[in-house]
Amino acid sequence: VVGGCANSPDAEEEPGNIVIGFSQSGTESNWRKRHTESIREELDKEGYEVLYRNGFMNQDRQIQDMRTFIAYKVDMIVFTPIMEDGWDAVLLEAKAAGIPVIIVDRHIRTAEENLYLTHIGSSSKAEGNRAGLYITNHFQNSSQSSVKILEMKGLANTSPTNFRSEGFMEVISRDSRISIKASLEGDFIRSKAKDVFRKYIEENGWEDIDVLYSHNDEMTLGMLEVMEENGIVPGQDILIVTIDGQAEMIENLRAGKVNCVVECNPNAGWYVRNTIKRYLNGNTIPDEIYMPETVFSDKGNLDSIPPREY
Ligand code: AHR
Repeated sequence: VVGGCANSPDAEEEPGNIVIGFSQSGTESNWRKRHTESIREELDKEGYEVLYRNGFMNQDRQIQDMRTFIAYKVDMIVFTPIMEDGWDAVLLEAKAAGIPVIIVDRHIRTAEENLYLTHIGSSSKAEGNRAGLYITNHFQNSSQSSVKILEMKGLANTSPTNFRSEGFMEVISRDSRISIKASLEGDFIRSKAKDVFRKYIEENGWEDIDVLYSHNDEMTLGMLEVMEENGIVPGQDILIVTIDGQAEMIENLRAGKVNCVVECNPNAGWYVRNTIKRYLNGNTIPDEIYMPETVFSDKGNLDSIPPREY
């Protein structure tokens, strides 16, 4: 990681003279829209000039966007990677051009170290742990001899998908009665999850599924529609644990249609702004900046859920 202030632009530089290239991965969810707004709002407040590009969930396009920033000689790049791998070449180009890069939200894997300044985002593994804990606690005193889970995964080869599965397995494997019956891929997209789940039910039925563990709210919303079509009572016939915390899902939690919402915090803007400011002022930046997150569930804190803007 490029720590410290080796490549810092002049600390005396006026914010209006600092240009930040911000490459977002796409607009697949309300969560993602809020994530984008949060970063843009905070960088605007600071008075930085922001060049924004949407990669529309296409890695080649995102790499091209980063190359545009490099050609433009921006002062810093803020980048939300769609995938885990495949960024080494463009990050080496940014490094050679002396442009520090901040990775936001998803993690990446690079062959070489020191290709970016820091990562700011969630611990997806902790989110998976929290989802697993809700389920193991829920069944702790139950006499049920087996608990079957349907997992709806996010996009393959992305860190939230990998870590949300890993963290979840780590916890549920402590109770031998609990197992994953099927893992489906919904790519974090509502319509995809809806189609995949509908097909699954047509072929396998749903009666032996006790729990749905979904890697994001958009996919859960699609699956709730399929449950309605099939006369399944969500939150009762099937226990539902979902990740993100979008406003619509909190309403579903309050209505008893979902049982647990593991928060994934999209409000990265303040952390990004603060990190850039500290870096430009010559401070050493930690390799990893985790954002605070919590869990909302039918076991308790429904009255204290902060208002959602996404
Ligand atoms: O990378 C974070 C995930 O991406 C969010 O949970 C999801 O909603 C988004 O699509």
